[in-house]
Amino acid sequence: MGALALTLLVALVAHTNANNVYTTRFLTQYHKIHNAASGYFSKEGVPYHAAETLLVEAPDYGHETTSETLSYYIWMEAMYGAIMNDFGPFNKAWEVMEEFMIPVHGSQPTNSGYNPSRPATYAAEHDTPNEYPSLVDSSVSVGQDPIYQELVSAYGTSDIYAMHWLTDVDNIYGFGNTQGNCEAGPSASGPSFINTFQRGSQESVWKTIPQPCCDSFKYGGQNGFLDLFTKDNSYARQWKYTAAPDADARAVQAAFWASKWAQQNGKLSTITTTLSKAAKLGDYLRYAMFDKYFEKIGNCVGPWSCQAGWGKDSAHYLLGWYFAWGGSLDTQNGWAWRIGDGAAHFGYQNPLTAYALVNERNMQPKGASAVSDWQISLDRQLEFYEWLQTSEGAFAGGATNSWNGRYDTPPSNLTANTFHGMFYDWEPVYHDPPSNRWYGMQPWSVDRLAQLYYVSGNSRAKKMLDKWVKWVLSEITFNGNKYSIPATLEWTGVPPNVHVRVTAHTNDVGTASATARTLAYYAAKSGDKNAKNVAKKLLDGMWALYQTDKGVSNSEIADTYGQFQHEVYVPNGWYGQYPNGDVIQAPATFLSIRSWYKKDPQWSKVEQHLNGGPAPEFTFHRFWAQADVALSQGTYGMLFNE
Ligand SMILES: *[C@@H]1O[C@H](CO)[C@@H](O)[C@H](O)[C@H]1NC(C)=O
Repeated sequence: MGALALTLLVALVAHTNANNVYTTRFLTQYHKIHNAASGYFSKEGVPYHAAETLLVEAPDYGHETTSETLSYYIWMEAMYGAIMNDFGPFNKAWEVMEEFMIPVHGSQPTNSGYNPSRPATYAAEHDTPNEYPSLVDSSVSVGQDPIYQELVSAYGTSDIYAMHWLTDVDNIYGFGNTQGNCEAGPSASGPSFINTFQRGSQESVWKTIPQPCCDSFKYGGQNGFLDLFTKDNSYARQWKYTAAPDADARAVQAAFWASKWAQQNGKLSTITTTLSKAAKLGDYLRYAMFDKYFEKIGNCVGPWSCQAGWGKDSAHYLLGWYFAWGGSLDTQNGWAWRIGDGAAHFGYQNPLTAYALVNERNMQPKGASAVSDWQISLDRQLEFYEWLQTSEGAFAGGATNSWNGRYDTPPSNLTANTFHGMFYDWEPVYHDPPSNRWYGMQPWSVDRLAQLYYVSGNSRAKKMLDKWVKWVLSEITFNGNKYSIPATLEWTGVPPNVHVRVTAHTNDVGTASATARTLAYYAAKSGDKNAKNVAKKLLDGMWALYQTDKGVSNSEIADTYGQFQHEVYVPNGWYGQYPNGDVIQAPATFLSIRSWYKKDPQWSKVEQHLNGGPAPEFTFHRFWAQADVALSQGTYGMLFNE
């Protein structure tokens, strides 16, 4: 047995392209993630948001999954391909993503009824859930969708090729919105398309009312869940999806690396089909570049005064926070709608993806103006980073074309220095918690800037990285293997004069890992010894201190979990039910509409807290963070052969 294992190991190592300490760590971590006993994957092979079920943050349950998770899965498998010279798992990861995260035609059946000269009907966003449902107002004119026709011509379908951001992998809510099915119910097996956030910038996950992506009025109230969010004259059975563009962009980025690595290994022919799908994903990802209602970008104040966009003048060319699409279930007189997003966060930008879609020959999108759009986007994203960089080095929030999500008048201090007429927002899109307080957005985004610099030597990226690296190095300290990196940030001022202050530090593994990878790419290109050394110490520190049987993780205090019993706003008189019979009616709480949480194996920890005990402590294994650890260790090994 021992001898057999040894033989197998030797055989594996013999095919490893870069066999060193750090690529070996990649493989160790990779095998922990793939070990069935760790519990990261569903029986269909879908990676969960986390191995643990009890977890509330952006997703409201650990065994949901997100487009983010799938993008990390694809990236990790791309690196496995580079190290083991086998890109089969990379192809498979893409197939899993496609099968479970991109709605099939039966799940988005009425796109051919879409009218690109009138993409959607305006409804003002509000600040808090209590101000919903929001009123649909067809007196506001909206712009036209300039990419629909060319996408139809390029791909021969009116359907969208993009990931919906959230699925209920174990069908715990019981909607049964599996591919091609609408509300097939609790007995349906497999990932079910759901959504949570719908009600304004102050709607934290704790205030959401999860709803099915396909609503046939079987569950919820008499109009399903629709009239919780939008007030209209009548309600039609319908489907709708929302993309999280940074995740789709990360999947394209991963495919770019797969392309590079497969070329180096003489394996390109094994992944060309996947690469053309990545290009297609990048083509549709352009919906993230447009104002929500395709209004003209710049000084757009007042929904009735803004100019409806024509051609590309509704494009900010950045990666917006989302785009969404939907339509009627009734296919007889089918109709459909699409929206972009006028708000962009620096943390979502991915200049490497833009670069790849322009320059990587195996990944050219087919849409007639796609390559030129991504070329403009690459330039615009770099300009955006430049505009948002603080004198200290960190990057501030972002900008919006629609103040408060309803084309309000912004405060006067924001109108002097705009970004192509868009207004600075230190916490774009969501405010609870503030969207740019978390340090993780920094390395997540700057990593892509560093990869762009590594790949292309881009001098604008280099200049910003010099400053960012100097800042982050000044905020990282070590004590033996222990490390301390920023946790939360505070912002003052308006671009081009924004300032940052670090308000707390942490030993969090996920963000330390992303920081290490960013520093490694920067060091590999610039030769900066200090950055390389800090990357190595972070990687060694987490590896030495935080091993678990499922990966590399450290414990955290879940100090927000008192909100399990906080009120969830339900309009007076509204009554509905979940498939399991949980009632949706005021007064509701996060827990009352998710009674299944009481059966969770870790529930007693939360229960003790709700009964007055201290905030519970957990050691989570988030898929993205665990894949990130593998990727940062592997990156270091591949870059420096150590
Ligand atoms: C702009 O002014 C408003 C008050 O009108 C203030 O609350 C806000 O913090 C200022 N914004 C910035 C970024 O300084």
